[in-house]
Amino acid sequence: MELTSSVCVVTGASSGIGRRTALDLARAGARVCVVARRRAVLEEVLAEIGGSDRGHSLFVGDVADRAQVRDLAEHMSATYGRCDVLVNNAGYSDDGTFEGPDDVERLERVMAVNFYGVVYCTGELLPLILESTPSSIVNISSMAGRLGLGGNASYSASKFAINGFSESLHIDLAGRDVCVSLIEPGFIPTEGFPHPGLQKDSVMRHALGTVEDVSAAIIDAIENRKMERVVPRWYHLLQLPRVLLPRLHRWASLKMNEARSRRKDDGTEERTQESGS
Ligand SMILES: NC(=O)c1ccc[n+]([C@@H]2O[C@H](COP(=O)([O-])OP(=O)(O)OC[C@H]3O[C@@H](n4cnc5c(N)ncnc54)[C@H](OP(=O)(O)O)[C@@H]3O)[C@@H](O)[C@H]2O)c1
Repeated sequence: MELTSSVCVVTGASSGIGRRTALDLARAGARVCVVARRRAVLEEVLAEIGGSDRGHSLFVGDVADRAQVRDLAEHMSATYGRCDVLVNNAGYSDDGTFEGPDDVERLERVMAVNFYGVVYCTGELLPLILESTPSSIVNISSMAGRLGLGGNASYSASKFAINGFSESLHIDLAGRDVCVSLIEPGFIPTEGFPHPGLQKDSVMRHALGTVEDVSAAIIDAIENRKMERVVPRWYHLLQLPRVLLPRLHRWASLKMNEARSRRKDDGTEERTQESGS
């Protein structure tokens, strides 16, 4: 699919992966609507990608609020009359072990932003996306949507849900010329996912990816109509033991969890920033 002159929506575009993707889409010749809750930061991003004179726009809203997402769809319809690409990227991690009743509400909030945010944006924009074919929906999941790691139950649940939704929708929409893609980043240092412990670890820091890598994978998925991209690519291999050697996979997961607990105890790893409320 050609990006030049296309119209794209990027949610969670005020920082990290979304911000970089908005910039790269604009450089590729697309008109981009950047979406997030912080107006002041979005205004900076809008200026960085070329401003409204170049056909870009911003929309301040919470993807977990369906009425606000309906307003986003109206904004796209009124401003552009089309939507060629939707990048469902907004999300956050509220890590911590699932201990009891209080954690149910925390899980509901993570699902509301990470999963229902994807569902609302896809649902409300789908009529316009179907009128703009060939078009693309790119859902940003995570390796946590393939592998459940310790201390991450809520986040992992939200990303597994995105994977199921995306794989099924890919089949349903393929015959209507809408490509639904799934991007599964590994560890990428950003504002909401700083990964301080990994950055300080002399071995693990080599396993970190960059926002540039993820943005390139998103653009590759759109241009070449790819269903799935893992970033960095070699993380794909991490899924093999789960399928082929499940007992080894569970043993390694327990060991990783022990190492993570030690990093937390000695203060080299902080809780992931909570940005969902
Ligand atoms: N970085 C990683 O290691 C990693 C790994 C796997 C997957 N991912 C996924 O990649 C995506 C982007 O994460 P990132 O690393 O770029 O983190 P980030 O820098 O913290 O960016 C998150 C973005 O989401 C927006 N956002 C959060 N809640 C929102 C809401 N309710 N409504 C609208 N926008 C909201 C934030 O903007 P406002 O605060 O202005 O609303 C921000 O622009 C997420 O879905 C994340 O799960 C990241």
